[in-house]
Amino acid sequence: MTLAIPADLIARLRRAQRVVVMTGAGISAESGIPTFRDAQAGLWAQFKPEELASEAGFRANPERVWQWYAWRRQQVLKTSPNPGHYALAQLQQRLPHLTLITQNVDGLHQAAGSTEVIELHGCIHRVRCLDQDCGEMDWPEETRTVPKHSCGSLMRPAVVWFGEYLPEQALADAVDAVEHCDLMFSIGTSSLVYPAAELPLLAQRNGATVVEINPNPTPLSAKADFVLTGAAGQVLPALVNAFSEAP
Ligand code: OAD
Repeated sequence: MTLAIPADLIARLRRAQRVVVMTGAGISAESGIPTFRDAQAGLWAQFKPEELASEAGFRANPERVWQWYAWRRQQVLKTSPNPGHYALAQLQQRLPHLTLITQNVDGLHQAAGSTEVIELHGCIHRVRCLDQDCGEMDWPEETRTVPKHSCGSLMRPAVVWFGEYLPEQALADAVDAVEHCDLMFSIGTSSLVYPAAELPLLAQRNGATVVEINPNPTPLSAKADFVLTGAAGQVLPALVNAFSEAP
């Protein structure tokens, strides 16, 4: 089946000087990465999301939360980028400027070769101190139990937990990119979680074309200028092909 990409969308993409792509869990679905809720099965089903992904949950039982993230990270390490991730990396090379904003913590955009990735919800491959601001560090491979930094603080996964603000710099960079773009894609996100869900609407208010790619309708669908219904791993390669063909 050939996916029809609207000629008007390709024309706008060719004219665009600054493009923003925002992705959510859907872009990694075809890589086999379970969403937070899907992952909460088996052994972990007995715990509430807040017990596994909040500061209070970590302070109450650091070992349990550390083991949950170590396990999730192992799941992520077994996966690879899919054609959707690779198509976005290609698109970035062919456009004057593309900023990628992701809500995912899996690092698969970077693994596919994308650069300038803004991680709104942090990254599962990094850690930071629970009680001090010592900056982020790589996940310590050799540790089986909760590590302690030289400052004395326990180390926690560098991901955004329930009840936490998004990383200030990442959010500021994302808003800046969105406010200055001509065209914005919203891909594989349910458009339910704020403030990320607000970003395509901000782009639109600033005059940008908004394109949604998702197999299912979301609250953004009625407002987007273009809706490409389908899996990101199919739609994005078709889009890059259409863009690359001679006009
Ligand atoms: P969700 O799990 O809420 O939504 C995933 C979206 O991907 C849905 O709209 C699906 O229809 C769509 N989808 C599924 N398969 C797809 C495919 N193959 N191609 C394209 N789209 C597909 O994920 P997010 O919107 O990312 O927050 O959720 C946002 C945040 O809520 C997450 O980052 C997480 C969660 O709580 C934190 O961890 C802070």
